[in-house]
Amino acid sequence: MSPFHLTRTLPEDATDAALRADVHRGLTGHPKTLPPKWFYDAHGSDLFEQITELPEYYPTRAEREILVDRSGDIAAATRARTLVELGSGSSEKTRHLIDALTGLHTYVPVDVSESALTQAGQALAAERPGLDVHALIADFTAELTLPDTPGPRLVAFLGGTIGNLLPAERAAFLASVRALLAPGDALLLGTDLVKDEEVLVRAYDDAAGVTAAFNKNVLTVINRELGADFEPAAFDHVALWDDGHEWIEMRLRSRTAQTVKVPALDLAVDFAAGEELRTEVSAKFRQEGVRAELFAAGLDLAHWWTDGAGRFALSLSVA
Ligand code: AVJ
Repeated sequence: MSPFHLTRTLPEDATDAALRADVHRGLTGHPKTLPPKWFYDAHGSDLFEQITELPEYYPTRAEREILVDRSGDIAAATRARTLVELGSGSSEKTRHLIDALTGLHTYVPVDVSESALTQAGQALAAERPGLDVHALIADFTAELTLPDTPGPRLVAFLGGTIGNLLPAERAAFLASVRALLAPGDALLLGTDLVKDEEVLVRAYDDAAGVTAAFNKNVLTVINRELGADFEPAAFDHVALWDDGHEWIEMRLRSRTAQTVKVPALDLAVDFAAGEELRTEVSAKFRQEGVRAELFAAGLDLAHWWTDGAGRFALSLSVA
């Protein structure tokens, strides 16, 4: 059994304060919005795992295909001794990379979910004797302090989750990742790619209704954490493609005129019939856009790998 450390950089009550601030800002704004990070309580994380297995939701399979095919190339290009994975979740796809990085000394999974970190981290520490696993409970969109581990460092941000950030947030995020890197360190970034609108919309509005349940789960989270009285059935799931921004939006559309109470915030929120609450942006990318955003953050695109069908890309950039 290898060493397993768990460090909490996120105070226990920080999550609660951030949720309150986000919900207050989002539900009193015009249009109403909620940040997608609040989807992922235990039930929401389980629903997301189900989404990744849906026939319509191709990104997880496409990214896994690239990791299976290219982990050897990534290992050769980086010779990483420390792998930092932002938003590691179950670390399932990362196994391929970890197996290929033969000189790996330390794996640093970073996630807000303590349960996911403990499960995945302990399993890995047991499977890979000699690998030091240093899990960090942290919000990767905030400032990160990494443990002092041997270089070169490879920071991985997979799944296309960068698409959940708005352009200004992406720029700030990439700059903060760049600040974690020394010369010769690298960033491995997963980005879903622009493609046929029908394919994209179906991926976010599946026939079995799992994504609809995932979307509405954010209302259940707010009910439980802030004592609100959202009625999930009073909202319809909406997924649409915004061609100007090149992103998918998920929304919840109020079926009727209704007022929702949020006691913990001392708030009553009026919804008009048909009014929409934006719950997620999931941006889709092109190579030149990714290259430009990386360059603006001080990173040089060195490799660009896609799956065979050209649906998803992994880029490797260097500091
Ligand atoms: C986990 C953020 C990559 O944006 O595709 C899946 C989340 N939302 N279905 C995405 C999600 C709706 C997913 N990410």
